[in-house]
This record gives sequence, C-alpha cells and structure tokens, in this order.
Amino acid sequence: MSLVRKRILVTGGSGFLGSHLCERLIGMGHNVLCVDNYFTGRKDNIKHLLDNSQFEALRHDVTFPLYVEVDEIYNLACPASPIHYQFDPVQTTKTSVIGAINMLGLAKRVKAKVLQASTSEVYGDPTVHPQTEDYRGNVNPLGPRACYDEGKRAAETLFFDYYRQHRTRIKVVRIFNTYGPRMHPNDGRVVSNFIVQALQGEPLTLYGDGSQTRSFCFVDDLVEGFIRLMGTDDSVTGPVNIGNPHEITVSELAHTIIRMTGSNSVIRYLPLPQDDPTQRCPDITLARSLLDWEPKVELEVGLGRTIDYFKKLLAETR
Ligand SMILES: NC(=O)c1ccc[n+]([C@@H]2O[C@H](COP(=O)([O-])OP(=O)(O)OC[C@H]3O[C@@H](n4cnc5c(N)ncnc54)[C@H](O)[C@@H]3O)[C@@H](O)[C@H]2O)c1
Repeated sequence: MSLVRKRILVTGGSGFLGSHLCERLIGMGHNVLCVDNYFTGRKDNIKHLLDNSQFEALRHDVTFPLYVEVDEIYNLACPASPIHYQFDPVQTTKTSVIGAINMLGLAKRVKAKVLQASTSEVYGDPTVHPQTEDYRGNVNPLGPRACYDEGKRAAETLFFDYYRQHRTRIKVVRIFNTYGPRMHPNDGRVVSNFIVQALQGEPLTLYGDGSQTRSFCFVDDLVEGFIRLMGTDDSVTGPVNIGNPHEITVSELAHTIIRMTGSNSVIRYLPLPQDDPTQRCPDITLARSLLDWEPKVELEVGLGRTIDYFKKLLAETR
C-alpha cells in the first residue's frame, strides 16, 4: 500500500510524549508541525529532528488561536506533572480549556481529525478498580490538582460537544502513567524521581507507606496506542484508556530501581500529598478490542532504557 503523506500538528510536541510521537510520525513518512511554548518541553527533545525536512517547530501558546492547514491534530499541550501544573494553576486550566477550544476550532475549520491527550486523572481518586471508561470519577473540584483534573474533564466535554454539534472528527485517549526517556528530570514524577535519586546516590523519596499501587506504560507502547486510535474510522471517538494494567506498589518500584541502578540509596518516607490517589489501574478491554492494542514492553526493559537516558543526561550536565 502506498503511503498517504499527511500534515500532522502535534501540540506539546517538544515535551516528553510529544517528542516521541513526532519522531514516530516522521518515521512513518508524515510531515509534522510541532507547536510548543516550551513551558515544560525542551528544545533538546526535538533537536535531532530539526534537520529533517519533514519536521517543523513553531513556538506558540495554544491558548491563542492558530491558523494552519493540517490533516490531523494530536493535542498534547499541557504540563503533566503536579509540580509543573500547580506552578501556575490558572494557566493550566486555560491551556486545557482554551487550548481545546482552539484546536477543535481549527479541526472544524480544516476538517482535520483531532486527538485529545486526556488523562486517568479524570477519574480522580477512584472508587472503582480497575477503571473502565464509563466510570465517571471521583474528583475534588476544589483541591490543588483540580486545575489539571477539571481542566482535562472540561476539555473532554468540549470534544464531545464539538462532535455532537459540528460532527468534528474527535478521538479522546485517557493516558495512564507513562514513563521513558525524555521525562523531565525534575518534574517529581515517581519513575524519574526514583531513577535520578538512585543514580545520584540520594535517598529515594517515597510518599506514604509505599503500599499505594501504580501501573506504568512505556512511552513506545503509548505512542502505538495513539496512532492506532487516530487510524480508526470516524465513528470511533473514545474515550479509550491507554496504559499498562500491570500494577506494582510504589515501594516495589523503588526497590527495583535501586537494584537496577546498583545504587546504595536508602528510602525516605514522607507524608502523602493531598488528593494523591491510592490506586490507579486501567481496564484496557476497550483498547484491546477496538485497537487490538496492549502494552508490549516489560517494566524492567523500559526501566533499563529510561535509566540509560538519565545516566547520559546526568553525565552531560555534570
Ligand atoms: N506522561 C504521562 O504519564 C501522562 C499521563 C496522562 C496524561 N498525559 C498528557 O499527555 C500530554 C503530554 O504529557 P507529557 O508527559 O509529555 O508532559 P510534558 O510536560 O513533557 O509535555 C507537555 C508539553 O506541552 C507544552 N505546553 C504546555 N502548555 C502549553 C501551551 N499553553 N501552549 C503550547 N504548549 C504548551 C509543554 O511545553 C510541553 O512541551 C499532556 O497533555 C498530559 O496531560 C501524560
């Protein structure tokens, strides 16, 4: 089958997930326009793509309208880690809500398909395990995480209203914890935190007693899920959970990372932050049936690649 080369917009394209997505789309032969305001994204994440004629980078804030001609839009722009999204909560809500309006408006105008990078945070601190897409969540609308959780929930609402009102071609993916190379070293997410601390021989900071569980999806698996969802026909809107259903406790993760890095670090227990979910695990039945998708990369394989990335990064910044 011959390739149809598409013009694809990736907002948040210089961030952790966005940079991997840009790379993958270019590898598939498409033209990619990466839009980012570099709030948490880094030029280093995309510098290896800058010489590629299929790639273009544009500094732009998605809270302002954008007029470009594209076939597909992946809307990833939004800080994803609590440290970053709580730094300027008003801007976080604006990015999710106004960013969604701008990208939906663009998709409507140019008749592009638009995929929203939503999040498992729409489930809040869930009372149902594992979480299926029809679970409506348990979000505190007033807490410090609300700018992110409610912003993403409002964005989903906008996606479905554009779909119902304008027949905009939407896809909504609910991403569960994802890790891999190019995570921000100081963003406080558990995998990057533990790896950086272990490599520097510092204590691993564990919030709570470590019995809370998480499930971690390697970035390559996630990007594959994005592409499969975007490739579905227009009747498929989602939301679809994409994540790894294999749960481990945070304490188990800490010990695995200490072992894999050969570190002498100890574990330091700290109080659990407000509204931190105790358990989060995707039900991926829908992704399996709709997209024939499931995660393939084993945790220790993915952790190995991530540890290698941080080793190199720390050596460069030393
Ligand atoms: N990584 C995860 O585990 C995870 C989980 C759930 C959802 N998500 C979602 O996936 C998307 C990407 O997450 P990530 O982990 O790559 O985070 P990231 O912080 O590395 O990437 C976000 C990118 O968006 C850019 N950005 C932020 N505000 C912007 C604005 N107003 N205009 C233009 N660009 C802006 C940042 O500079 C950055 O490059 C986010 O929407 C996030 O909510 C990620």
